[in-house]
Amino acid sequence: MIIAPSVLTADLADLGKACSEAVNAGLNWLHLDIMDGNFVPNLTFGPPVIAKLRKALGPSPVFDAHLMITNAEDSFQQYIDAGCNHISVHVEAVTHLHRCVTAIRAAGATAGVTLNPGTPIDAALEVLSEIDLVLIMSVNPGFGGQSFIPTVESKIRRLKQAIDAQVAAGGRPVQIQIDGGVKAHNIAMLREWGVSNCVVGSGLFNDSASVADNLAVIHQALE
Ligand code: DX5
Ligand code: ZN
Repeated sequence: MIIAPSVLTADLADLGKACSEAVNAGLNWLHLDIMDGNFVPNLTFGPPVIAKLRKALGPSPVFDAHLMITNAEDSFQQYIDAGCNHISVHVEAVTHLHRCVTAIRAAGATAGVTLNPGTPIDAALEVLSEIDLVLIMSVNPGFGGQSFIPTVESKIRRLKQAIDAQVAAGGRPVQIQIDGGVKAHNIAMLREWGVSNCVVGSGLFNDSASVADNLAVIHQALE
């Protein structure tokens, strides 16, 4: 199970330190929540900040850009140029999804398709052979610290069946990543549903314990 810290709930006044704390705790897949204030009602950071983070953290951590922006099709290259290894675009914000995900892979990044809680998986299934990851939102995007939406279970189980069928037919494996409200109390259940990559924000970055201590509790829940 990949635990992907979402830096959205970290101390944004010292983002480099927060990311280093996560990397030093052994977390090498960093989930960067990019918000434009249009697609979602919040605004975070973009390529200039990402480029500084890549300089500060070195080449090894995976930078996973969760693009909650209206112009992902036209701007994903800027995030790759800034140092992102993976780009997830929202089905709801992209007009030409197949062209977009194939272009992301052609540009040398891995490609992901993101689905909001109310969005069916159909569009992801249509491009399943062209992508590396499906990001299932278990909160409505825009903020950290929200409550997990359990109705995404059936969507995840159906997606897992489709991916298993694709692999059985000799096709590419696809990660199922979940994002929003993931904590120690529900992460083992998510693994049983077929999730292999969990974004955790406030479950790792909070005032009650360090990232390392919060991670230890999550690892214990997965034993
Ligand atoms: C929400 C973001 C999530 C969020 C996760 O729009 O995409 O990554 O920061 O934070 P928690 O784990 O606190 O729900
Ligand atoms: Zn996210």
